[in-house]
Amino acid sequence: DKGPYPYYMLKEIDEQPNVMRKLAALYTQESGKPNIDTNLINALSEADRIYIVGAGTSYHAGLVGKKLFEKLAHVPTEVHIASEFAYDDPLLSEKPFFIFLSQSGETADSREVLVNVNANDYKSLTITNVENSTLFREATYTMLLHAGPEISVASTKAYTAQIAVEAILAKALGEAKEQTIAEDFDIRQQLGLVATGMQAIIDEKDMIEGLAKKYFVPAPRAFYIGRGIDQTVSLESALKLKEISYVQAEGFASGELKHGTIALIEEGTPVIGIITQRKTANLTRSNLQETMSRGASTFTIVRRELALDGDTIVIPDVDEMITPLLSVVPAQLIAYFTSLNKGLDVDRPRNLAKSVTVE
Ligand code: F6R
Repeated sequence: DKGPYPYYMLKEIDEQPNVMRKLAALYTQESGKPNIDTNLINALSEADRIYIVGAGTSYHAGLVGKKLFEKLAHVPTEVHIASEFAYDDPLLSEKPFFIFLSQSGETADSREVLVNVNANDYKSLTITNVENSTLFREATYTMLLHAGPEISVASTKAYTAQIAVEAILAKALGEAKEQTIAEDFDIRQQLGLVATGMQAIIDEKDMIEGLAKKYFVPAPRAFYIGRGIDQTVSLESALKLKEISYVQAEGFASGELKHGTIALIEEGTPVIGIITQRKTANLTRSNLQETMSRGASTFTIVRRELALDGDTIVIPDVDEMITPLLSVVPAQLIAYFTSLNKGLDVDRPRNLAKSVTVE
């Protein structure tokens, strides 16, 4: 039931703060220590490499997971698009561990990989929103996203829930491997900050709708740019805009634009810079400037500590490792309001199904 909401997507965006609180309560203890199946952590600890597999938005959540597992647990991690990995001849490490990310648990491309994983007796974990789904049943271990049913075709709360679960899991693995950075990372407290921060962004929806109407509704194309973890969010942000607003959007590594793609910038092309990392903030700002001098209408999604006068959307401070949990929310809202103001069916965009059960 949508309740007072015109579309499920807006309801699901609004539910994200509560999902964060719920995951903190379920998967961490009051002391801040993770509360995760010890058999799973032991199996993961034995792996010399983690392989994350997913499609679409779940793949994008995996890109964030790679950064978390490598930083907090020091385990080399690869992320693969399910439909590619299934038919590649991957050269695996000696002790691989597979993590499947899937909101529905039914994505055929991911299942094809899992069938091969099981045939080789490798250990796996499915992180899914749907209990007893195919990927849930067939993996060695499972963790639920507890996000509640996601009805809108465009995935929102499943993405943030996947990242939150990956962060808790990476901390647990890092602690098992006695990594100081993992011991010092207070994920429970951080998820509390994330919940409040998400709400603060959601409370700015009228401002974001104004931007969507003025700049994104008339735009044939748009760009999200960023570096590192911000680049991964740029991919997810662009996907949202494409699938429900039919704006041709690209997520791009900001430093790579000038190597060709900047040719597409015209007068008024919207370019949004995502800036949450100290190390690369100034670099992305100058890449944004390069597009502005070629006529782009530029916007910023900036973490408060790094904000300057004139920034468009300022998001609250959280640990740099988990900024996607906040930086994606304005992008979800931009896509939602662009679609809404174009008079499109937000929840049921053309050509798409909620879960893709054919390869
Ligand atoms: C994007 C979207 C799709 C799914 C993809 C994977 O908003 O919904 O890209 O993320 O089809 O689906 P799951 O996560 O169910 O495996």
